[in-house]
Amino acid sequence: MNHTTIPHQRLRGEIVVAPDKSISHRSLILGAIAQGESHIKNLLLGEDVLRTLTIINQLGIKTSHDATTITQGDELTIFGNGLSGLQKPNDDLYCGNSGTTMRLMLGLLSGQSFSATLTGDESLDQRPMDRVLEPLRQMGAAFEVEHRDGKRFIKTLPRPDAVVPFLKGLEYVMPVASAQVKTGIALAGLYAAGEVIIKEPFPSRNHTELMMKSMRVRIKAKDREVCLNQVGKLKPLNLIIPGDLSSAAFFIAAALLAQDADLIINHVNLNPTRAGFLDVLKFMGAKITTGVVDTVQGEAVGWVRAQSSRLKNISIGGNLVPRLIDELPVLALVAACSEGKMLVKDAGELRVKETDRIRAICSQLPKLGVNIEEREDGFLIQGNPAGIRVVDQMTLNTFGDHRLAMMEAVAGLVADKSFVIDDVKNVDTSFPGFFNLLDKIRG
Ligand code: S3P
Repeated sequence: MNHTTIPHQRLRGEIVVAPDKSISHRSLILGAIAQGESHIKNLLLGEDVLRTLTIINQLGIKTSHDATTITQGDELTIFGNGLSGLQKPNDDLYCGNSGTTMRLMLGLLSGQSFSATLTGDESLDQRPMDRVLEPLRQMGAAFEVEHRDGKRFIKTLPRPDAVVPFLKGLEYVMPVASAQVKTGIALAGLYAAGEVIIKEPFPSRNHTELMMKSMRVRIKAKDREVCLNQVGKLKPLNLIIPGDLSSAAFFIAAALLAQDADLIINHVNLNPTRAGFLDVLKFMGAKITTGVVDTVQGEAVGWVRAQSSRLKNISIGGNLVPRLIDELPVLALVAACSEGKMLVKDAGELRVKETDRIRAICSQLPKLGVNIEEREDGFLIQGNPAGIRVVDQMTLNTFGDHRLAMMEAVAGLVADKSFVIDDVKNVDTSFPGFFNLLDKIRG
């Protein structure tokens, strides 16, 4: 499915964006092993999260709606069966395009008495899983990784002699900051006999720590270290999931870059471990204001107002990177329209996302006249405050990556001419309704 962009410089309105993807995955998985009924409002109905929902159903967990029946506005009830209430699935567990589903499920399934096999789509089959398999092996988990007919199958192998709890404690220093790996280990930690200590090079998103704490897990988190001890029972969740700041980022960028824009995004998650994008934009001189309205299970929730701005580039790296990792494609677009140079470094993780995002950004933005140089761990952009000037009628590629597609759609809004984006289908993995919302703000 392709998309032809329509330039539009006047953007107005108050919107809400798609619910938070990270919190949605976690609420399903933790709800499944909680003791009793969890009630989840505003679950993201993106394809990635629906994969996780189907998988918990395949593991024997009943829910009020399944992936085919749930609609926006439904409250999902998860009938959690406790830590040992999962059942062996009849079929392979298909994670689709979702790295979060696979890495979190690997952690959860490591602690079970049955084996299960995880698979994914072509893109997911290429993504690194050793980063989570390795620490789980150190906890006593075993896996069989097979490649058949060009597909990867990862099977969890419980030991025949194993007794509950199946796993042992661990002190693990993560080589890369990754909330997916951290969460995979923490989920396995719920099934470990000893203490689990996870150390990160830089702080990554902390939704798991906050959610587990609200469920009475004995978990302590400080700065770059998480310490978890086995619990008997997890208290069920009662949660309204806020909007995803990573989804809001596309609309914030559109408002800053458009010539006549004033946009408010309500009910959005403002967790500081996710807010690096806002911090960088404020440093660049963006007209952005934010307000926290509520704190829901440790998560700050509020609004963001963004208006047309003249921006000056800064360079970024180090501990900022995990706090804006998913926003780097759209930040590259913002930098392309700002004064001066932006060097992004320490962002090698972008190469192992849904596609190699460094290569994708550096190959597509030049089609919009952007001066960008590829680096091993990032890129260097020479900005141009004149904005996006489409050089010729080339089609932009997305490589099937939702965040590339949305970044290119925003570029289309603020560009001088329209152009075609080749494949926008995967926007549905994280942001169903994105294009409708883009139409809605044309004030
Ligand atoms: C996520 C963590 C990040 C992020 C992904 C969601 C999560 O990945 O890019 O979209 O929900 O934990 P990494 O943990 O690989 O950095």
